[in-house]
Amino acid sequence: MNDLAPLVHDAQADFERAAAPADLENAKARYLGKAGLITEQLKALGALTPDDKKARGALINAAKQQIEAALNARREALAHADLLAQLKAEALDVSLPGRQRGTGGLHPVSLTMERIEAIFGSMGFDVADGPEIETDWYSFTALNNPENHPARSMQDTFYVDVKDAEGRWLNLRPHTSPMQVRYARAHAAKHAEAVARGQAMPEIRVIAPGRTYRVDSDATHSPMFHQCEGLWIGENVSFKDLKVVFGDFCRRFFETDELELRFRPSFFPFTEPSAEVDIAFASGPLKGHWLEVAGSGQVHPNVVRNFGLDPERYIGFAFGMGPDRLTMLRYGVNDLRLFFDGDLRFLSQFR
Ligand code: DAH
Repeated sequence: MNDLAPLVHDAQADFERAAAPADLENAKARYLGKAGLITEQLKALGALTPDDKKARGALINAAKQQIEAALNARREALAHADLLAQLKAEALDVSLPGRQRGTGGLHPVSLTMERIEAIFGSMGFDVADGPEIETDWYSFTALNNPENHPARSMQDTFYVDVKDAEGRWLNLRPHTSPMQVRYARAHAAKHAEAVARGQAMPEIRVIAPGRTYRVDSDATHSPMFHQCEGLWIGENVSFKDLKVVFGDFCRRFFETDELELRFRPSFFPFTEPSAEVDIAFASGPLKGHWLEVAGSGQVHPNVVRNFGLDPERYIGFAFGMGPDRLTMLRYGVNDLRLFFDGDLRFLSQFR
């Protein structure tokens, strides 16, 4: 053991004690700095003979290398500890459940609307869309409603505080039936052209789904609700066609052939004769109950005239059904208000 061993030992101990990089650099200065203990040893070499200088120099260098090695080892250890501390501070718990991105879904009534459109679309029906704020003429007059018809009263219909060109209050349409007239008139020019060319008029075959409004609110009525109008007009369209089309629709909508259809005589100003369409399931929880699903009838000649067509030549049927009601039947929901409360616990069940 040479006399430099205690120096090396002290340096190693000092370095080991350094808890932070700054402490370590201070400790380094004590041994390797300009006035450090090793540096002093090197300075003292000048006074020695060449032979002694060589032997002593080798010893000092060996000690210096040991000290530098200890210094580097401690530097690495401190850096490593630092990294470990940082990793610990920024730790990710990979076992935590991830944050879910909610998946949206269609509203059950929208699902029904899509089904209705797809089924009637496949039977060659166009799908039309129209205004929810209507004029008196389209909502009532054009549909052969007498001036004093109760549907026009404040108890049934919401009115808007704005008047139309005829000085009548605009209304929130109480049914989708105005769309029969709007659609037929929008295609009137096309029809007239065909007839002028001596061709048969292209048939009107359309459904018009949408929002409707009435002053009404309980478990099966909401002031805002949905309807889907249907209209088929041609030179040869009869009640028989209505029965086939509507029966087909119901069987496809409810995905069962075990379904009966009943036309119950009724009254609507815009149809003559008129009928309520009832259905009954041959099995399932609703077996044996007749359920009303639509109003219907052969379009009244006055209405055909308001379509811009000759009622002597054109004939057909119309129907109006309630998609909300159909949705309740299809999913077994007993309170209509659930559809419009916006409670995701209810709505997300239909995704
Ligand atoms: N508009 C009627 C209502 O809201 C439903 C209706 C009945 C529509 C007979 C029709 C129809 O097209 O022919 O109660």
